[in-house]
Amino acid sequence: MVLLRKGKIQRGQKVLIVGASGSVGTFAVQLASYFGAEVTGVCSTANIKLAKSLGAHKVIDYTKEDFTKSGQVYDIIFDAVMKTSFSRCKNSLTQNGVFITVDYPLLQALWISLTGNKKVVFGIANKIKDLIFLRELIEAGKLKAVIDRRYPLERTAEAHRYVEGGHKKGNVVITIARENKVKQI
Ligand SMILES: NC(=O)c1ccc[n+]([C@@H]2O[C@H](COP(=O)([O-])OP(=O)(O)OC[C@H]3O[C@@H](n4cnc5c(N)ncnc54)[C@H](OP(=O)(O)O)[C@@H]3O)[C@@H](O)[C@H]2O)c1
Repeated sequence: MVLLRKGKIQRGQKVLIVGASGSVGTFAVQLASYFGAEVTGVCSTANIKLAKSLGAHKVIDYTKEDFTKSGQVYDIIFDAVMKTSFSRCKNSLTQNGVFITVDYPLLQALWISLTGNKKVVFGIANKIKDLIFLRELIEAGKLKAVIDRRYPLERTAEAHRYVEGGHKKGNVVITIARENKVKQI
């Protein structure tokens, strides 16, 4: 929801999602598309189809092309996997463009935002109304969790090793069979 609350995403804007195949990225692509943005996803060759299926209008394969060198500019760049930085993306942002990330040194983000037109914002969905909105989108089938693998509770260490490899597609689920509940990590 940082896309909406802090990024102030608007219909028709050009939005680039770096890490379109990760957990945060797969949700970001779907949400940006839902808000009517023209979405470009950045992922590897193996995940192009996935990013497109989630609503990305264009996909840049990071193994073949560096989006910062294309000359294209975006209203919002969302680094969903912490693989780039504001300084690298600065010239790929429009004049009042916003760089969104999952984490950033607060003072640095404030300094960038106070000393120029471009902004750095970060955060998570923690407002109850945002969580209700997300729940409603999920219930309406407009927002889906991409599940890569499922592991039973006793194989949690193996699940963590897989997640820490940094190449999961969407989410990995731990299943707790006895209570018939699932927990997402
Ligand atoms: N997941 C959560 O619930 C959560 C919550 C709060 C904060 N965070 C933070 O958010 C960040 C992302 O977490 P995540 O769980 O969403 O990540 P993730 O799912 O583990 O990210 C993995 C994905 O990133 C892609 N990727 C790797 N290098 C890339 C690159 N250079 N450019 C574009 N894509 C690349 C991988 O694709 P390839 O295999 O094709 O390389 C893979 O699909 C982390 O810093 C995490 O600590 C996550």
